[in-house]
Amino acid sequence: AKQTVTVIRGDGIGPSIIDSAIEILNAAGCDFEYEYVDAGLAALEKTGELLPPETLEAIERNKLTLKGPLTTPVGEGFTSINVTLRKQFGLYANVRPVKSFEGTQARYDNIDIITVRENTQGMYSGLGQVTSEDGTEAEAMSKITREGAEKIVTFAYELAQREGRKKVTAVHKANILKSTSGLFLKVAREVGERFPDIESAEMIVDATCMKLVMNPDEFDVVVTTNLFGDIISDLCAGLVGGLGMAPGANIGENAAIFEAVHGSAPDIAGKNLANPTSVILASIQMLEYLDMGETAERIRSAVADVIKSGDRTTRDLGGNHGTTDFTKAVIERL
Ligand code: NAI
Ligand code: MG
Repeated sequence: AKQTVTVIRGDGIGPSIIDSAIEILNAAGCDFEYEYVDAGLAALEKTGELLPPETLEAIERNKLTLKGPLTTPVGEGFTSINVTLRKQFGLYANVRPVKSFEGTQARYDNIDIITVRENTQGMYSGLGQVTSEDGTEAEAMSKITREGAEKIVTFAYELAQREGRKKVTAVHKANILKSTSGLFLKVAREVGERFPDIESAEMIVDATCMKLVMNPDEFDVVVTTNLFGDIISDLCAGLVGGLGMAPGANIGENAAIFEAVHGSAPDIAGKNLANPTSVILASIQMLEYLDMGETAERIRSAVADVIKSGDRTTRDLGGNHGTTDFTKAVIERL
């Protein structure tokens, strides 16, 4: 039977970049069935719900989802759809690789870093969110469990092993956040000992940000808690030419959602300006997850070639072409 992929085109620039990625998958000869469902603003308008039950059923049934960014309306009663999806499906690992492409205007040309972000705990656990009645005080709870930390750090080392990588750096703030980050670091050290072939390092998050900018060669696989991973992965995207270049896979035991790191980019939505590389790379992550490495590599090199030649790139890459021209250029190479 054909593999069915759930597709959420998403809001803002989502539909244009998702369509681009699917055209490219088809052009590369991937024989998937696609089941389109809605979430976010698109779903809210049609059904009155941000995450309709049909959408959740499709994600669960097909196990694989390719997803565009979703706009979470700001205001009362709306919890982030992304956070909900990650929690609901136990997508505990968020894998965010960045790799340099020749021809971008990025500061460095040989970046190759994977951030493995814990995806369900920490400051995103949604626990204990209180604002005092008079609005002068607010609090929220951060929760880390030994089980959660062990799962994510083990995931990072296993990924390092599988991909022939040399080093895993655990990023933390255990000097200040003694309980939560302290537990994460303690567990990271324990797990590291089980992988003697891989170099284990640890670094405080603020110093990590400085070193990523000054000395990115020091990093290989980075593993960290939810909020730090969110921030560090955007920083890493900046090292390779911006958010348009950064994909992310949300992986759990029974489902996986592949998406861009960025949001719905309302400032450029509907203008054919978005760089689809982020979701194209997310679809490449999906192919690798399915052991379709050869097809993944073919698409990657077509994208690399378009960016290197610079003839039909998008504005964020220094070009003056649209999403659709970029997509056509990739398909021609394929
Ligand atoms: P954003 O990531 O949408 O945009 C930040 C900046 O990067 C903007 O200047 C945008 O034009 C640019 N950018 C992003 N993707 C690009 C691409 N593919 N090509 C070229 N330029 C690109 O962040 P922002 O504006 O803070 O958030 C907008 C909305 O997205 C919010 O409603 C937020 O909640 C949502 N969001 C959704 C996410 C998801 O669904 N995974 C993740 C992050 C934010
Ligand atoms: Mg983010």
